[in-house]
Amino acid sequence: MALQVELIPTGEIIRVVHPHRPCKLALGSDGVRVTMESGLTARDRVGVQDFVLLENFTSEAAFIENLRRRFRENLIYTYIGPVLVSVNPYRDLQIYSRQHMERYRGVSFYEVPPHLFAVADTVYRALRTERRDQAVMISGESGAGKTEATKRLLQFYAETCPAPKRGGAVRDRLLQSNPVLEAFGNAKTLRNDNSSRFGKYMDVQFDFKGAPVGGHILSYLLEKSRVVHQNHGERNFHIFYQLLEGGEEETLRRLGLERNPQSYLYLVKGQCAKVSSINDKSDWKVVRKALAVIDFTEDEVEDLLSIVASVLHLGNIHFAADEESNAQVTTENQLKYLTRLLSVEGSTLREALTHRKIIAKGEELLSPLNLEQAAYARDALAKAVYSRTFSWLVGKINRSLASKDVDSPSWRSTTVLGLLDIYGFEVFQHNSFEQFCINYCNEKLQQLFIELTLKSEQEEYEAEGIAWEPVPYFNNKVICDLVEEKFKGIISILDEECLRPGEATDLTFLEKLEDTVKHHPHFLTHKLADQRTRKSLGRGEFRLLHYAGEVTYSVTGFLDKNNDLLFRNLKETMCSSKNPIMSQCFDRSELSDKKRPETVATQFKMSLLQLVEILQSKEPAYVRCIKPNDAKQPGRPLPPGTSAQRQGAAWGGAVCIPPPLVPRYKSLCPETWPSWAGRPQDGVAVLVRHLGYKPEEYKMGRTKIFIRFPKTLFATEDALELRRQSLATKIQAAWRGFHWRQKFLRAKRSAICIQSWWRGTLGRRKAAKRKWAAQTIRRLVRGFILRHTPRCPENAFFLDHVRTSFLLRLRRQLPRNVLDTSWPTPPPALREASELLRELCVKNMVWKYCRSISPEWKQQLQQKAVASEIFKGKKDNYPQSVPRLFISTRLGADEISPRVLQALGSEPIQYAVPVVKYDRKGYKPRARQLLLTPNAVVIVEDAKVKQRIDYANLTGISVSSLSDNLFVLHVHREDNRQKGDVVLQSDHVIETLTKTALSADRVNNININQGSITFAGGPGRDGTIDFTPGSELVITKAKNGHLAVVAPRFNSR
Ligand SMILES: Nc1ncnc2c1ncn2[C@@H]1O[C@H](COP(=O)(O)OP(=O)(O)OP(=O)(O)O)[C@@H](O)[C@H]1O
Ligand SMILES: [Mg+2]
Repeated sequence: MALQVELIPTGEIIRVVHPHRPCKLALGSDGVRVTMESGLTARDRVGVQDFVLLENFTSEAAFIENLRRRFRENLIYTYIGPVLVSVNPYRDLQIYSRQHMERYRGVSFYEVPPHLFAVADTVYRALRTERRDQAVMISGESGAGKTEATKRLLQFYAETCPAPKRGGAVRDRLLQSNPVLEAFGNAKTLRNDNSSRFGKYMDVQFDFKGAPVGGHILSYLLEKSRVVHQNHGERNFHIFYQLLEGGEEETLRRLGLERNPQSYLYLVKGQCAKVSSINDKSDWKVVRKALAVIDFTEDEVEDLLSIVASVLHLGNIHFAADEESNAQVTTENQLKYLTRLLSVEGSTLREALTHRKIIAKGEELLSPLNLEQAAYARDALAKAVYSRTFSWLVGKINRSLASKDVDSPSWRSTTVLGLLDIYGFEVFQHNSFEQFCINYCNEKLQQLFIELTLKSEQEEYEAEGIAWEPVPYFNNKVICDLVEEKFKGIISILDEECLRPGEATDLTFLEKLEDTVKHHPHFLTHKLADQRTRKSLGRGEFRLLHYAGEVTYSVTGFLDKNNDLLFRNLKETMCSSKNPIMSQCFDRSELSDKKRPETVATQFKMSLLQLVEILQSKEPAYVRCIKPNDAKQPGRPLPPGTSAQRQGAAWGGAVCIPPPLVPRYKSLCPETWPSWAGRPQDGVAVLVRHLGYKPEEYKMGRTKIFIRFPKTLFATEDALELRRQSLATKIQAAWRGFHWRQKFLRAKRSAICIQSWWRGTLGRRKAAKRKWAAQTIRRLVRGFILRHTPRCPENAFFLDHVRTSFLLRLRRQLPRNVLDTSWPTPPPALREASELLRELCVKNMVWKYCRSISPEWKQQLQQKAVASEIFKGKKDNYPQSVPRLFISTRLGADEISPRVLQALGSEPIQYAVPVVKYDRKGYKPRARQLLLTPNAVVIVEDAKVKQRIDYANLTGISVSSLSDNLFVLHVHREDNRQKGDVVLQSDHVIETLTKTALSADRVNNININQGSITFAGGPGRDGTIDFTPGSELVITKAKNGHLAVVAPRFNSR
């Protein structure tokens, strides 16, 4: 879409014509001229979509031209104000799809292109919102598309309305009632291949939710003469052909029928049993299915088809005259079938077909019929059977459509939508009583239409006080009066002729007509016509100048058809029928009823009056159907001079309904926007002034404004279109702002709510914690004060706390190893437990330690322990030995002479250490090796074993308490092999002595001496070693012969 913008003074209306494409104009409401390409306002390029908008709306030519232009573009719908004009396209334009239905749902009538669905939706919405009964009146001549429009309307409601609570069966029934009624009530005529030969008014009931819940059909005067006679090129009712074409072999055999319409006299009169545009076979299938939907049982279908077949058989009943010229049935076979199909006595039927029963002075007389009378009686019976069956069918459909929920509360609030699909106005070469009735019916509806629209419109102008150009229209009341007026109308005269005694004939009726209504401007007969017209009128004809054209009726058969006589004995025969449908159609009460029944025309007149009443009680909507040509051909638009043109033109320009101005256009004027507080009239005046309407363009009425030229309306509409866009943007922005603000405020409120709740929770938690803390402190203080009193509730908490905290502290501060002697101080109550725990702890540590040490280390420790036991606190150089590890041996195997090893034999050496030996006499020091075996201490000098002291002979070991390294091994004095005790010195005296003591099991035999050690030097000779403390180690032989040892004194002891 291309937009050109140029500044102009506010409020100017401009019309811009694009050289190639139609452009739309715009009102620069905010000081901006906007020229917009077509597409925005989408006004028809092909004529106007509402005849009200035609410039020269009174011109018939302009009306037709508009219609033709639109039709060429396949736009078959056009409005005349609220009336929809529809031109039959005679082809499927694909404009009734589901998408089309959706497009027209819920939108304003004028905002979408004209369409039947727009009417349908408007009517439906009015029904729902105003809860007023509605009626859609579909009119137009035969073949114009009334029945088609009715079906489309029904389809629209079936598909778009919500489904009723109890399933959608009603919708199906409403839709499926159509094919059945059409099969029995429609026929091919010269005007229409599916011409309705009965009038139909259908009520659809909607519940308060707008769902269809039921329906009811009123039918009007079926053209029953068609059963026995059809004009050339016409057919009997569809059902006969459908049954013969589509019926199953078995069915036809049962009914005694042949699959050939030519075999039946009632079907060959029009000589066109087969028509290419009608597919009887497939239609039959549709009808069969539909019958099931509308609740027909198989038995009922069978009974119904028996009747249809019986009519065909009746047509084939022939008579022959006997000697007395009385008629005799000659077709026995047909009679047999008839008896079976109608379930009547064969003889009774035979008699009824050939005799007439007369009741004279209370006596019944049988009078034989001649050939002509018998044929008449037969045809009368066929017509009666068929037409009554049709009425029964309508009743049956009504029972199926009736809402099953009559007692529910929703039923009481139902509203009704009526659809009127009557037979259209028709003119044939030869027009008879039926056409007279049909056209009278159309006149009546036309009159109603005029009353409800044209006249009321004109009156409105007057009421508004507008001196408007009067729009001429033809008021057909005068024709209606001509037909129906009491005493003077054609129907009254006909009835009079039918009822009067004496020889009344169709011609006497015509004469009477001529006498009574000869001055009527719409009535003409051969006798009354002028010279020129007379040629076109037969003597037995009269002509009516209908609103839709002239129709010449032949009076032949008027009286008979109006009387609709069925001989009494035929009625009686039918009353005795066992066929359930027939027995409902022919009621015995009819026989006893002495009153003469109303004539057909009067009955029809009464039913039409009722129909008019029904329609008047409802809010009407109109669809006017028009035929583009008489050839039933698509694509041939409106040749001049057709009756359709005449009909259409009669309507064009007559209606001008301007839309209410202020509510619609108030947004175009700053003073009326957003609302006008003053009187509506003043508002309109302000608006009109602002829009710049010229005085000749409009007229102000009392309550309405009337716009003279469509272009004024177009310009205003276009301006509104643009204004709407900018308003829509504003509304959108405001709405979005509002929407998001609401959302934000909601979020804010929620956040505050959550925050306050959370803060409250936190505060409460904190307060509870503080309270608890204060209580705890109080209990602790109180407990502390009373800690020395026996346990009581006041101090229990404190005491428990002290205990617990001691245990917890203990857990954290447990000694890490055996040497760690730290231990927390227990509270008095736990002292004993603490000691036990401590013991356990130490044991545990020791146990753990023991488990972790190696065998070598164990031995080391054992030896160390023994050393400690022996020397601790007794010998000065013991402390120095403690940190030094004991070594398994101080001499390697290579340091010991092999000869010594040999001498020892298998005895292993457990320990070896170099020692110094002091002679027993001179105390000379000599280097020796000390070896420990499992059995003895061995003193070795180089490669020689100098002395071997078995452990058994080792009586003890002496050592000084000083820091010297000397020691004496005491041996058994009785052992002669021994040279005496041995004085030795080892650098590792503690180690050597410990190992020796352990090997020899002499741990308790180590003597630690204070001053001196006496030892046995040899047999009879003892030696003494004197130990004295000094500054350094000196070992000398003292003058007294003793070994004097001066050893440094350590303070460690
Ligand atoms: N809107 C349409 N679209 C397509 N074809 C249509 C439309 N309206 C009518 N026709 C065609 O025209 C034929 C005649 O229409 P329809 O039977 O509705 O006429 P009618 O006005 O009911 O005539 P009658 O008064 O004889 O019953 C239909 O069978 C159909 O083929
Ligand atoms: Mg029809």
